[in-house]
Amino acid sequence: MATLIIYYSYSGKTELIAKTLAVNLKTDMVKIRDLKKRSGVKNKLLASIHAFMENKTEIKPAKVDLTDYDTIIFGTPTWAGNPTPAILTIIDRCNLTGKDVILFATMDNNYGDTNIERLEEKAKMRGGRVIESFAISTKNKSPERLIRDIEAIIEMKDLKMYTR
Ligand SMILES: Cc1cc2nc3c(=O)[nH]c(=O)nc-3n(C[C@H](O)[C@H](O)[C@H](O)COP(=O)(O)O)c2cc1C
Repeated sequence: MATLIIYYSYSGKTELIAKTLAVNLKTDMVKIRDLKKRSGVKNKLLASIHAFMENKTEIKPAKVDLTDYDTIIFGTPTWAGNPTPAILTIIDRCNLTGKDVILFATMDNNYGDTNIERLEEKAKMRGGRVIESFAISTKNKSPERLIRDIEAIIEMKDLKMYTR
């Protein structure tokens, strides 16, 4: 049984969580890059609007081959209460038929749950079976604290059971 983590991260926190999951669950991982410029005040405002409107974006890699995997983990920050354009773009290009799906969202304080709800709808539309999900606040947390928190979630939700 092989598992792949597919994630997008703007400022590195979702990436740290994805890497911690990958080490603990012994999975492969793919980072999705958003080719749109997202830095600067104006672009961040636009990023929130794009996420809210569920706009697609140009991503790299443009597609991910899921053939060798039966469980897919998607991870994304929360932008304006929604998944990021990059992760929505890649989910809509994945055929998740017959795959188990685990979802995680990072956030500051709010709307991780609405982000997860939307991800879940999208993953189901692509044929996936969502077996677990969680949202995690990253606000004011050191990398060490984030790693501890994610390791606690792995234990609490028994995530190793799904990826063994
Ligand atoms: C454009 C933008 C919009 C955001 N919107 C929200 C939000 O609606 N709710 C929230 O709690 N955090 C929001 N955040 C904060 C991020 O979701 C949070 O810091 C996340 O963990 C960052 O992950 P990253 O370092 O992987 O990019 C936003 C951040 C950005 C850049």
